[in-house]
Amino acid sequence: MCGIIGYIGKNHPKEVLVKGLKNLEYRGYDSAGIALKNKEEVQIIKSVGKVVDLETKINNSKLIDSNIGIAHTRWATHGKPTEVNAHPHQVGNVTIVHNGIIENALELREELINEGVKFNSDTDTEVVATLLNKYYDGNPINTIEKVIRIVKGSYALGILFNDKDVLYATRKDSPLIVGIGDDDNFIASDIAAIINYTNKYMLLEEGEIAEIYSNSINIVKDGNEVEKEILITNISSMDNDKCGYDHYMVKEIMEEPVVLEKTFKPYLDNLDLLPDLTKYEEIHIVACGSAMYAGVIGSSLLEEYANTRVYVEVASEYRYKNIIYNNKTLVILISQSGETADTIAAMRMANEKGVDTLAIVNVKTSTIARESSMQVFIEAGPEIAVATTKAYILQVGILSLLAYKTAYDKKLVDIDVVEEARGLPRLLKEVLDRRDDYLKIAKSIYEKEDIFFIGRKIDYAISMEGSLKLKEVSYIHSEAYQAGELKHGTISLINDGYPVFAIITDDKIKDKTISNVEEVKSRGALVIIISNEEIKGYDLEIVVPKINSFLQPILVVPVLQLIAYEVAKLRNCDIDKPKNLAKSVTVE
Ligand code: AGP
Repeated sequence: MCGIIGYIGKNHPKEVLVKGLKNLEYRGYDSAGIALKNKEEVQIIKSVGKVVDLETKINNSKLIDSNIGIAHTRWATHGKPTEVNAHPHQVGNVTIVHNGIIENALELREELINEGVKFNSDTDTEVVATLLNKYYDGNPINTIEKVIRIVKGSYALGILFNDKDVLYATRKDSPLIVGIGDDDNFIASDIAAIINYTNKYMLLEEGEIAEIYSNSINIVKDGNEVEKEILITNISSMDNDKCGYDHYMVKEIMEEPVVLEKTFKPYLDNLDLLPDLTKYEEIHIVACGSAMYAGVIGSSLLEEYANTRVYVEVASEYRYKNIIYNNKTLVILISQSGETADTIAAMRMANEKGVDTLAIVNVKTSTIARESSMQVFIEAGPEIAVATTKAYILQVGILSLLAYKTAYDKKLVDIDVVEEARGLPRLLKEVLDRRDDYLKIAKSIYEKEDIFFIGRKIDYAISMEGSLKLKEVSYIHSEAYQAGELKHGTISLINDGYPVFAIITDDKIKDKTISNVEEVKSRGALVIIISNEEIKGYDLEIVVPKINSFLQPILVVPVLQLIAYEVAKLRNCDIDKPKNLAKSVTVE
């Protein structure tokens, strides 16, 4: 997703803007640009490709004197990733960067073309810049207020006016913060962009306009001054460092035992800190991507052990359905970023119907964290790699504890999961340390074109995430399939040497899955067993420690994460920033 950084202060903006863009790379992008401004002129430098390509162009340019600038990484929505479409966009007196989608851009564009406007780019952003320039009356705040009443959709905007040594910003749906330095101030899509310069910031709320000088900040909304709380982030610049690992992805996988212990600790000391789900007759789990797959694991545990009716839906479908709620429905939103547009929309739909919403979220200041009725935070820390790993594991961990607590409160289980959970980080570290075992499997499959993951019940839910992780970072086509479903069509694809991962951890249906494994083996598949007990007779096998059913997925998925990582490495993929992907999908 696009990233925004802006600076005003005592220094030349170049270093802050380039460093900020590098800290925002994890959000996913395909072009980048900066704008520098002084009293006489605005200098814009843009580049398709990586920030390092832009940095080369900047270093080869004669930069104007400046103390104010904005910069942007663009994840193409309207218009191809070209230099012309890259941000910043300048129209007359106005230069802007934008994250989001202007939904009435085409209609506004036609109206402006009928007025004689000639557009240079294919972007919705240029429409906003044109409107700001058209209505600019020398009062930037009045101008911004007028234009944000005209445009529809989502936006985070960084704005410069030629005749003002002031940085302006406003937002709706797309996140934006105002960073507070010493004699300099910032705007950024998230705090990670400016963590090297300040840990103090304000959250810009919907419709608020920030008027930012180097030593003061005014926030206004509907013409009135707004008092803002100054927040201090607990992340450090080290979170933006690979700490000796080759990639953020593997660093974040190896952090799993530590962040699992940190996330679990308060709840293992007192399970009652978790919400009481026994009062709900029906639970909807709504999320996207890996977060949704975590939800499938949670639903499997809640149904199997807590006798709770659970529906899991992808947010992009759920938000447009005619959902029948009652006052015993709970909607659980799962989101690492807390800014996924579809998940926000699903949450707001439930909120509007007066339904309780529970967010399982990593970013405590995110929209989903702030607008849900209840929250259980995971303590993953910043997750820089686009492919989620540690956050996903913690989402599963919280859902496992919620399922256990609910089953326990309903007197449906008599095992003590808490004690086993205290030992889980150590077991997970043992699993993670077996890197050579996963590399051996990776070497046997990294040149394949199609790879299948099969399982039944919770093992199928695990397969879904294993398949997504592999395809996300290695670009190998992969599918997760219910083991019992293969023979109804897909098995026609199995040929000699086709790798099939079989996830087998549920004792109750182990034999059924093994018979499905035999079906693919007899058709030449390369069978890789991932289990919690030895199952001989197949090509490759990984056995993880056996633990209670609530916690077992947490020892299995990291194996698949590391195999996906090793495969991607062997294929020389851009592991932390896979092509076409964004870390937080803040547009529909
Ligand atoms: C997972 O590796 C992907 N990056 C993606 O599926 C992600 O899980 C999904 O976009 C949801 O993001 P969120 O957790 O920030 O809402």
